[in-house]
Amino acid sequence: MRSAAPRRPIPVWDVAVRLLHWTLACAVAVAWTSALEIGVPGPWHEAAGYTAAACVTLRLLWGLVGSRHARFTDFLRSPAVTWRYTQQVWQGRAPRHIGHNPLGGWMALTLWLTTGGIAFTGWLQTTDRFWGSEALEQVHTTLAWGLPGLVAFHLVGVWLTSRHQRENLVKAMLDGRKMPPSGDDVA
Ligand code: HEM
Ligand code: HEM
Repeated sequence: MRSAAPRRPIPVWDVAVRLLHWTLACAVAVAWTSALEIGVPGPWHEAAGYTAAACVTLRLLWGLVGSRHARFTDFLRSPAVTWRYTQQVWQGRAPRHIGHNPLGGWMALTLWLTTGGIAFTGWLQTTDRFWGSEALEQVHTTLAWGLPGLVAFHLVGVWLTSRHQRENLVKAMLDGRKMPPSGDDVA
């Protein structure tokens, strides 16, 4: 009798996705802590903020032309599909997704747009036109204080999905590999 071929991990997250993810996470952490430590944001804050902005810009472009699971078409699902998936999560029978699941996909977009908005309003405050604008300062601060909340949701989502799927998603974001799809998994 022939035995089934052993299942080996397959590549899912390309190098650009992983590099941009961890650089973005570090840049956000530095932008945040440098803003609080110094009081008045200095060169570290600006450098980290622009690094975060560069990561977001490159990742949004990569979402158009990158590898299969990096593309928006792979993970941005319609509201109806996302709602159905949310119900399945609630009932504890959500299928495994090889790329981002529908909730994770929308969370990723929210994180990119929020970070991009923070960096943009930060930069605007350095221009002649908006120098000293209290309204912009307010927007920058509000979005900046909202970001840790979103990151907390993101981490809870990663933890719960890892537990439900019995799969280390953090390791997959480091080495780029996951077990191949089987059964009802969404490839
Ligand atoms: C400021 C901090 C962070 C931000 C802004 C952030 C943002 C993001 C974004 C935008 C994605 C989508 C990635 C892509 O498609 O390119 C993502 C995915 C992911 N992040 Fe983070 N992240 C942060 C911190 C972390 C940390 C600390 C961890 C682990 C402990 C982590 C684990 C993951 C994992 C595992 C995924 C893939 C989720 C999946 O399998 O669908 N992230 N993150
Ligand atoms: C991911 C990017 C960024 C994050 C997470 C971030 C976060 C923050 C935080 C937490 C504060 C302190 C708010 C408070 O007083 O409670 C702040 C202030 C400030 N940031 Fe940023 N920032 C980012 C990017 C930038 C960039 C790119 C610039 C400009 C080049 C900038 C310029 C400023 C300025 C001028 C302030 C002081 C005025 C204000 O509160 O708006 N930031 N930022």
